[in-house]
Amino acid sequence: MGRSGDRADHLRRRRGDRQLSRANVKIAILKERASGETRVAATPETVKKFTALGCTVAVETGAGVTASVEDAAYADAGAALGDAAATVKDADIVLGIQAPDVALLSGAKPGAWVAALFEPFTKRDVVDAYAAGGFEALSMEFMPRITRAQSMDVLSSQSNLAGYKAVLAAADAYGRAFPMMMTAAGTVQAARVFIMGVGVAGLQAIATARRLGAQVSATDVRSATKEQIQSLGAKPIFVENVAGIEGEGSGGYATEMSEEYQKAQAELVSGHIAKQDIVITTALIPGRAAPRLITDAQIATMKPGSVIFDLAVAQGGNVEGSKPDEVVVRHGVSIIGYSNTPAHLPADASALFARNHYNFLSAFWDKEAGRPVLDEEIGNAIRLTQGGKVVNERLLG
Ligand code: NAI
Repeated sequence: MGRSGDRADHLRRRRGDRQLSRANVKIAILKERASGETRVAATPETVKKFTALGCTVAVETGAGVTASVEDAAYADAGAALGDAAATVKDADIVLGIQAPDVALLSGAKPGAWVAALFEPFTKRDVVDAYAAGGFEALSMEFMPRITRAQSMDVLSSQSNLAGYKAVLAAADAYGRAFPMMMTAAGTVQAARVFIMGVGVAGLQAIATARRLGAQVSATDVRSATKEQIQSLGAKPIFVENVAGIEGEGSGGYATEMSEEYQKAQAELVSGHIAKQDIVITTALIPGRAAPRLITDAQIATMKPGSVIFDLAVAQGGNVEGSKPDEVVVRHGVSIIGYSNTPAHLPADASALFARNHYNFLSAFWDKEAGRPVLDEEIGNAIRLTQGGKVVNERLLG
């Protein structure tokens, strides 16, 4: 072959290499291994979408079973099924619900991205292990609360379902009905439901309890929620004329309240709570233990048969005495709460989480590079580890 033939060959090889590297972004989906975790990080829908972007997708056999997704559905969507080692082998990106144990990732490419929930403030050892392993840990719970990231926000998608499920679980544990019913045998009174904390979960809890026919009231430390409560047809219960009412920190999150505010809130809530049948608590403060909203003394003022659902039970609890995945009965009141509420709706929770992952990666898809390239705002917010080091400023200093 002459020189021009060599050159054409060379160009073909280069083009081929480029095509190979494009097709070569491999996304791995492992079966979740945490106890009680029923969700899965990809669905056949997102497998198809990733394939359309030019990725290959590998799914561990049985990964979707607890979320009602059969292996065959993943295979039909274009995924390769195999054991954990085969799934992760040479992966560029691993998607998870909860971050997998770093030992499972040993076959992945050096510097592979792992996007999942890391609980970075409480599981620092996991973050350090990812740094030591040379992986790029992307913490989905650190997704900034900006408009363009809404479709990538797993905290919102999962909290919404959790708020719904909390009301259903409380209704199930309650020995009476939610709606008012006028029957030939007499009238059944509507249940009084009080929602504490009106973020994403609380708003959905209000809407769900209203749909079930309850009389609903709600409170929050952020005064901006007052209108939202009213617009859902519920009654706002708010501390007035006390410094610190705004309660709004960065990104729409709550801040810790002044002592004066906390005292006034406790008094107001005490009076209100005694008249409630169901209380759903949802209050969280990022990076800190959940604020205590209900004491044992307040529970003692409630009617026997009342139910409290503590959505914050896994973060230390809003309710004194609540225990994850247990029914605690205090003064005749049942206190319930799940350690992982979205896992009680595995099919929908997986579908939304999987779309959040897809919306995230596809928004940053660089056609030239054939892979996602993060921008600074979102990259710096969610990246925990890179180049063998912990790099996220919320974890440094
Ligand atoms: P969250 O899960 O951190 O907290 C739940 C609720 O508890 C919040 O409304 C908070 O104000 C409230 N709370 C905290 N301490 C309390 C106390 N002592 N007493 C009563 N309530 C207390 O919040 P979540 O649901 O994640 O979102 C909060 C807000 O962030 C949303 O309502 C929304 O405005 C904003 N957001 C913006 C997003 C975006 O732009 N991408 C995405 C999600 C939320």
